[in-house]
Amino acid sequence: MNRVDGKLKVTGAAKYAAEYNIPNLAYGVLASGAIARGRIKSIDTAAAEKAPGVIAIITHLNAPKPPGYAGGKESSDPRTDGREYRVFYNNVILYSGQPVALAIADTFERARYAASLVKVQYVKEPHQTDMLANMDHAVAPKEEGPDYNRGDKNAFNSAAYTLAQEYHTQLQVHNPMEPHSAIAVWEGNDKITVYNKTQSSPIAQEDIAKAWKLEKENVHIISHFVGGAFGGASRVWPEEMAATIGAKKTGRPLKVVFSRDQLFNMVGYRPQSVQKIKLGTTKNGKLTAIHHEAFGNTSTYEQFTANMTSLTQALYDCDNVSTKYRLVPLDVSTPCWTRAPGEAPGSFALESALDELSYQLKMDPLELRKRNYATQDPSSKQPWSTKFLNECYERGSAQFGWDKRNPAPQSMSKGDWLIGYGMASGIYGAWRAPSSARAVLNSDGTLIVQSATADVGVGTATIMSQIAADATGISVEQIKFELGDSRLPPAIGQFGSLTTTSVGSAVNDACVALRQKAIEYLRKIQPSLQNTPADEFIFSEGKIKTKDGGVAIAYTDILKQQNLPSIEARVDSKGSEEANKYSSYSYNASFVEVGVHALTNQLKVNRVVSVIDAGRIMNMKTARSQVYGSIAWGIGMALMEESVIDHRYGRWMIKDLADYHVPVNADIPDIEVTFIDKSDDILTPIGAKGLGEVGIVGIAAAIANAVYHATGKRIRELPITPDRLI
Ligand code: MOS
Repeated sequence: MNRVDGKLKVTGAAKYAAEYNIPNLAYGVLASGAIARGRIKSIDTAAAEKAPGVIAIITHLNAPKPPGYAGGKESSDPRTDGREYRVFYNNVILYSGQPVALAIADTFERARYAASLVKVQYVKEPHQTDMLANMDHAVAPKEEGPDYNRGDKNAFNSAAYTLAQEYHTQLQVHNPMEPHSAIAVWEGNDKITVYNKTQSSPIAQEDIAKAWKLEKENVHIISHFVGGAFGGASRVWPEEMAATIGAKKTGRPLKVVFSRDQLFNMVGYRPQSVQKIKLGTTKNGKLTAIHHEAFGNTSTYEQFTANMTSLTQALYDCDNVSTKYRLVPLDVSTPCWTRAPGEAPGSFALESALDELSYQLKMDPLELRKRNYATQDPSSKQPWSTKFLNECYERGSAQFGWDKRNPAPQSMSKGDWLIGYGMASGIYGAWRAPSSARAVLNSDGTLIVQSATADVGVGTATIMSQIAADATGISVEQIKFELGDSRLPPAIGQFGSLTTTSVGSAVNDACVALRQKAIEYLRKIQPSLQNTPADEFIFSEGKIKTKDGGVAIAYTDILKQQNLPSIEARVDSKGSEEANKYSSYSYNASFVEVGVHALTNQLKVNRVVSVIDAGRIMNMKTARSQVYGSIAWGIGMALMEESVIDHRYGRWMIKDLADYHVPVNADIPDIEVTFIDKSDDILTPIGAKGLGEVGIVGIAAAIANAVYHATGKRIRELPITPDRLI
């Protein structure tokens, strides 16, 4: 099925946050600071204030202070109680590019010009932005669990084969097409509407209510369409706060949109990582020890932890495992969740290390993984709700032609190109978060389903409509799914691969409740059905039917005969007690062919075969697109993406899409995506396990492993650029 909102998007009718034409709208542009650490000595706004069309120039000296800014306590939750960067709060500079002023004018161009006229003088303090130079300042995250350990810490020392290596990954930036934006509209002092780019209108509502100490119901967030986010729009950032502060100051609706360069470090990014892996096996390749120590950077004012080591606790069967996570605080802005936040870098380290070990063992890397297959969760000892990773291996290797791989490095070539085959496993936790949904059936036969979740572009409205159609037997053309509004029933946002499992289940449950209500009305019309059990009814063609074929009545007729304008059901839905007894993950097996030019080291990904176990697939088309996107992300991470900081100035040097290379169509090869498509009926009533992130997990490692196979060169530091192959 095609996207229900596809036409709206390609015709431009879909309205994104910055596209609302509010009467009397003013435009705000942020001026960014030039130093990485220190204080603002003075700000000269005189020229800016005199510029054409300027309404106000806001700095820490004249900004209204959100009451929630004061008195915050320390917390390691990235959405902290007052320890987050507080826009225009005081004269302290915490990172380069920090907003120092907001120019507000009657047009965007005039605001941008005025922002360029703001002159700031600083008192500089020494900064630290180099993670590798600051590893000895690493700290344990305050609110993470303790370091993980199971089994014998010393098993590594007595292993027949061992490997100890270090892997590095770089700052990776989300770079969605749609920039982050907010339009703030105050109604009096205690009510506000914000049109916002967000992955969760309930989270934006909560954050803004907290900052301004407002009643939650007085904060209305509208976010109907989102043009990509990847984790970067899962919390409130400077643009929302600047918009609410500026609108307060001027008494006008205010729009703040980030420019591309501001998106590089003002709305989070994937932290840099250094990871140390130690593996030990028996002579036969059975893992006897895994140690994974990860370091990621954070800012000085917040602790952001990506989940880099948790996959190591669950992916392979091994009795003796320890993991540790440390943060290196730097004078930079806070990183944040970025597609498969910990698993993407974590799997690069773990799955590269396993590949390295396979050569020591002279064992096929796929065989090594099969020998360590976990048939239950090795950490919790719980059974899997479902796990079809073996099937992923089988199908993937067959589709790819893995058996044609000559195991020796540098043994395969095509003309001037060295050819390498590499593979990796991927894992991503599958969860179901509490979510609510409402279903309203109208007398004209239309079904409106509502939930305050988001759609960052993956097709949420489409599959929710399908789920509602499946549950009610009403055709999708008659169904409208509404999301992206904090006034709708509260639900998890779009992150953590949670939307389908959580909101999809809520939509299903609301529709099941709705059809139960319809059955009750039907029983009033036809009392003979009083004792017909619920499972004797079927729902199709907009009708409720009995299995024996004796009854078939349209929903619309039930409403008409009962004289009802509509019937409605709302449910608060969450995971079952039964599901808590199981461990749930989505999986993938990825197989990659690379070509490395023998003379120039030019590197090309020639083919990717990805086989995914994400439970039941709700829509093959949108699901496949999700995985294409994940793999493109993985290729970018492996070969291109890196934002470089000039540590002399503590300043990000790469802040545009000319210098920050992302894969373009010419870089993306034939990608074959296959789904196992087997239902997980324990985790969710709809059988889904979650798909948004699992596809990227392992891709960078599979590419690095293929590069080793092609060239005999093991690259442990991303991105794998041609110079690293010399
Ligand atoms: Mo995703 S990184 O949980 O938006």
